[in-house]
Order: sequence, then C-alpha cells, then structure tokens
Amino acid sequence: MTGRNKKIAEYLANYLESKKAEVTLQEMVDADAFEILNYDALIVDTYTYHDGEVPDEAQDFYDDLKDIDLEKTKFAVLGSSSKEHLHFGRAVDYFTMMLNSSNGEQVADSVKINQDPDEDDFKRVRTLGDYVLKSLNK
Ligand SMILES: Cc1cc2nc3c(=O)[nH]c(=O)nc-3n(C[C@H](O)[C@H](O)[C@H](O)COP(=O)(O)O)c2cc1C
Repeated sequence: MTGRNKKIAEYLANYLESKKAEVTLQEMVDADAFEILNYDALIVDTYTYHDGEVPDEAQDFYDDLKDIDLEKTKFAVLGSSSKEHLHFGRAVDYFTMMLNSSNGEQVADSVKINQDPDEDDFKRVRTLGDYVLKSLNK
C-alpha cells in the first residue's frame, strides 16, 4: 500500500545477492505457491490488513499453501505492519503457522517491523537473511 514491504523485500534480495545467493523476487499476487518446491528456500514478506488479516493480494497464495507438502523447504517470514492496529503484524504469524503446518522448515524467527524500517530493523532483516543462507550452506 505504501511501498514499505516492497522496499524491505528489495533490500533483503540485494543483501542476499551480495552474499552470492540467486534470488527470485515475486509479488504474492502473481506468485504460484505450487512452484515453491522448485526453490531451496522461501522468504515471505507481508503487510497485515483489516483487523489482523492476510492481505487480499496474498490470500490465494496463502490458501494454496494448505494443499502443499513443502517437504521441509526452508523458510522465513517478515513484514512491516503497524502498531497503531490491535493485531500487530498478525499476517506474519499466520504465514509462519501455515508454512510450518505445510511441512516447511522454519530457519529464522519471524521479524515484525513497525511501519517504516529503521537501522535496527534493517539489521534484523539482514540477520534473518543470514539464517536462511546458513541453513542452505550446511
Ligand atoms: C485499512 C488498513 C488496515 C490495517 N490493518 C492492520 C492490522 O490489522 N494490523 C497491523 O499490524 N497493521 C495494519 N495495517 C497497517 C499496514 O500493515 C502497514 O501500514 C504496512 O506497513 C503497509 O505496508 P505496505 O506499504 O508494504 O503495504 C493496516 C493498514 C490499513 C490501511
């Protein structure tokens, strides 16, 4: 809506590429959840909408995850949302739970960012990326 998550996702993608990872960046509204198994890892970045809901643009992707066995695909979840709302970052929680119940392997604690990311938030984003890379280099 304001471009915060786009900015965060692009920052993380650039960071991972600087560490020699090959990254595919896709908006969830265009992404096919059934293609996740073609990748070594998945990182979901989501905002939260009305009363703690998964955004409309992400709903189809989210629903499809119910029907997928992720076969221990490594994953992490992050997102900017707002503490001005009662259910702060609840969509991050929903994705984290869904990816775990679809047999993904969570390799980093989920990161919730309040509105615009500050320097400390960018550090948390890089740390999340480091955990994903570390899990792949085992
Ligand atoms: C109508 C509306 C409802 C929202 N509901 C929530 C909410 O329930 N929980 C939350 O944490 N943030 C909520 N937000 C805040 C957004 O998630 C936040 O502004 C986010 O940073 C937007 O990210 P984006 O710029 O990438 O779209 C809401 C925002 C709007 C406009």
